[in-house]
Amino acid sequence: MGKKEKAKERREKRLQEIQLLRSIPYSHHQRWWSKETIAVVTGGNRGIGFEICRQLAAHGLTVILTSRDATAGGESIKVLQEGGLDVVYHQLDVIDNSSINHFVEWLHENYGGLDILVNNAGVNFNLGSDNSVENARKVIEINYYGTKNLTESLIPLMKPSIVGARIVNVSSRLGRINGRRNRISNIALREQLSDVDCLSEELIDGTLSAFLQQVEDGSWASGGWPQIYTDYSVSKLAVNAYTRLTARKLSERPEGQKIYINCYCPGWVKTALTGFAGNNSVEEGADSGVWLALLLDQTVMGKFFAERREINF
Ligand SMILES: NC(=O)c1ccc[n+]([C@@H]2O[C@H](COP(=O)([O-])OP(=O)(O)OC[C@H]3O[C@@H](n4cnc5c(N)ncnc54)[C@H](OP(=O)(O)O)[C@@H]3O)[C@@H](O)[C@H]2O)c1
Repeated sequence: MGKKEKAKERREKRLQEIQLLRSIPYSHHQRWWSKETIAVVTGGNRGIGFEICRQLAAHGLTVILTSRDATAGGESIKVLQEGGLDVVYHQLDVIDNSSINHFVEWLHENYGGLDILVNNAGVNFNLGSDNSVENARKVIEINYYGTKNLTESLIPLMKPSIVGARIVNVSSRLGRINGRRNRISNIALREQLSDVDCLSEELIDGTLSAFLQQVEDGSWASGGWPQIYTDYSVSKLAVNAYTRLTARKLSERPEGQKIYINCYCPGWVKTALTGFAGNNSVEEGADSGVWLALLLDQTVMGKFFAERREINF
């Protein structure tokens, strides 16, 4: 059996295991949440985000499904409500400051805050073997700055609790620092990005600015950036680094006010983002995100997951 077949076999076996795990109901002891637990999901109108909303609502939380387009969001929420799920809607464009501000105000007034934030909204403009950076600025703006700005705006609203609030960033293996086939070639930069004590907003944002500058002056192709879906990979690398940096900062919070932040890769999922190609269904793609959001284990912080297992950044 070749390497590819072996990998396929391993993936399918793990997906079967996860299907089994998902069929086991959470025990009374594990169910720390209730109807009063508020989960906010970005980009919830379709794809993985919609499925995360559906699964969290089915577990009995109150889900706030958000989308940048109110009509699309309204239609999605109707589907879930007709299925008997408790889901609320609010418009939220993660790169529009006034939309973020309206949302924050509304959330505070109506729910007093939130317990779970799932940063799912994201874009990718390349399919198949394409690697255009035509939309690089937009990709980085939405995938990284959208995640970062919304997180910074919502952290003050995260409710204190014994089990801790949670942030889950939907990321990608394509953003791995030391990925075997897709990584930054500058070893010194990789080392800096790998060392959590070295990480800073300046380092992450500076790396993105350097990339975008090269996109602008046309020199990016020889700049040693990841080779596959370069702009998307760079954006997710930044999301991963931001997750670790934020985990470091949040680890200082006192007991009762803890916030656990982690990220995960949903696998290659059949959604609009992949042109409905992929190995995984949206149910499988949403699974690790929902699992992380509901995890009782309070030692999990600043980590990267796929298929409910920790993977390297
Ligand atoms: N599919 C995969 O194989 C895969 C693999 C790894 C990671 N991911 C990640 O998974 C997440 C969900 O992707 P998906 O596959 O479910 O793709 P999708 O079906 O295209 O969904 C993307 C969602 O993000 C929303 N969005 C985009 N820009 C936004 C903005 N500025 N503000 C708010 N929402 C915005 C989209 O809204 P509109 O409907 O208005 O466009 C849509 O709801 C993304 O972060 C993606 O990078 C996906």
